[in-house]
Amino acid sequence: MLPAYLPNPVAALFGGGAPIDAGRNYIDGLRVFGDGKTWRGLIAGVLAGILIGLVQILAAGMYDLSWLPRLTLLPVCLLAAGALLGDLVKSFFKRRFGKERGAKWPVADQYDLVIGAFVLLLVFDPSWLMSEVTLPAFAGILILTPLLHRATNIIGYLLKVKEVPW
Ligand code: CTP
Ligand code: MG
Repeated sequence: MLPAYLPNPVAALFGGGAPIDAGRNYIDGLRVFGDGKTWRGLIAGVLAGILIGLVQILAAGMYDLSWLPRLTLLPVCLLAAGALLGDLVKSFFKRRFGKERGAKWPVADQYDLVIGAFVLLLVFDPSWLMSEVTLPAFAGILILTPLLHRATNIIGYLLKVKEVPW
């Protein structure tokens, strides 16, 4: 899951500049995504996720990591892109509900990356998903994700990378 977990913190570190919605509003008069979703964050985050995935693929060739899911380039790219697409889609719906940038939205804020990553995998590489992500692994992801989310956001807040600790 590293290729899906890394994009969010990297986007928070390197994000900024032009927002993806270019400051435009949706038909409801509210921002499409908001200033928290930028091109720089999206591109840096997805590249970082792909890079860590490539390192994992290399490591799997050097050490015996056969107990881990066998990663290839396609699932790595789907995990990384899906994580931040999920985050983007979540922000779209957050704005539709009138929530300001950075407002708390429990459950959605934690699982957006998992949903985004798994939807892309289901559409573009379902055979990898079915053969490599076992039920216990999926359960582990559901438990680990909110814990990692909370921990990294507190660290990001203390480092002044994030404006809020969630
Ligand atoms: N970020 C970015 N581009 C993205 C995603 C994130 O630049 N595609 C950066 C922004 O600086 C953002 C920070 O990472 O403020 C934290 O991300 P997140 O918590 O997802 O954004 P929020 O500011 O909370 O906005 P939202 O309410 O839309 O979730
Ligand atoms: Mg947020």
